[in-house]
Amino acid sequence: MTSKKRILSGMRPTGRLHLGHLVGALNNWVKLQESYHCFYMIADWHALMSEYEDTKDIRTNSYEMVKDLIASGLDPEKSVIFIQSHVPEHLELYMIFSDITPLGWVERCPTYKEQLREIKGRDLTTYGFLGYPVLQAADIALYKADVVPVGVDQLPHLELTREIVRRFNTIYGDNVFPEPAPLMTKTPKLLGLDNRKMSKSYGNYISLSDEPIDIEKKVGGMITDATRVKLTDVGHPEACNVFSYYTIFSSTDMVSAVKDWCQGAKAGCTDCKKRLARVLSEHLEPLRQKRVKISDQDVKDILNEGRKKASQAAGETMAVVKSLIHFA
Ligand code: TRP
Ligand code: SF4
Repeated sequence: MTSKKRILSGMRPTGRLHLGHLVGALNNWVKLQESYHCFYMIADWHALMSEYEDTKDIRTNSYEMVKDLIASGLDPEKSVIFIQSHVPEHLELYMIFSDITPLGWVERCPTYKEQLREIKGRDLTTYGFLGYPVLQAADIALYKADVVPVGVDQLPHLELTREIVRRFNTIYGDNVFPEPAPLMTKTPKLLGLDNRKMSKSYGNYISLSDEPIDIEKKVGGMITDATRVKLTDVGHPEACNVFSYYTIFSSTDMVSAVKDWCQGAKAGCTDCKKRLARVLSEHLEPLRQKRVKISDQDVKDILNEGRKKASQAAGETMAVVKSLIHFA
């Protein structure tokens, strides 16, 4: 176990996990558990940074997230699954990193400026939110992660993490922290049901815990090839989001069949969407079955175990860090 490289990644418990998370991150997390020593974290402090005015769902979302993670194939025997705030060392290292991070580094961070522009309905011009990537750097460094699986949107945070740990290593010596490398796995591009980016705030997603009936309703509302108005019009699958879902979630035979009935005007879009709903329901069925078997007590047990293992690793790092800054 110790010879394996370490991975840390996290997700914010701001809502339910959906198909976008599954194909964009979770499936990959599941594979990585075989070859890395993985720490998967529920980033509740990061959730608080944007949800501070309405915090009542953060805990429930965290527990539901654990269920989704396990149902998707994360194995608590292989990976450390834990809640960020259960391990107080995150905040200790965050404090130290805050002291060595020049203000310009965080002020210039492109994600910071973008979020301020894009996230409406809440005031993110807070002291805490500016420090978002510094806490993320602490998350990663605390476990001496070598590798961080992230999407493109998180690359600036990883670059900042590398700069911060380099600065720490330069000031205090000893090369305590490895410079973490991003792991960008090619993942299929899944748009939301309305052709925009799949996102909680747009409400345009299918969550991992949706029932077949919800899935049918949601898929029924998807936008299809706009040039195909009547059943007798030929369609253009490559211009249709419904078709792109087939390419991700169904067999190649099925994909050819859809192409054929669409381009040959042999089946209507309503029919096509009904079938897609079935495909997606079947895809999620094993997850649903696994999910219902996970009790609230199971979640607590998994998180307790995770807290212990994460605390062990975090404690080892902080002992070294504190001795280096003469706080031991
Ligand atoms: N910022 C990440 C996101 O929004 C979540 C996160 C917090 C994270 N800490 C992390 C991801 C550390 C990777 C590593 O998706
Ligand atoms: Fe899209 Fe299917 Fe309609 Fe073709 S038949 S346009 S793939 S929904």
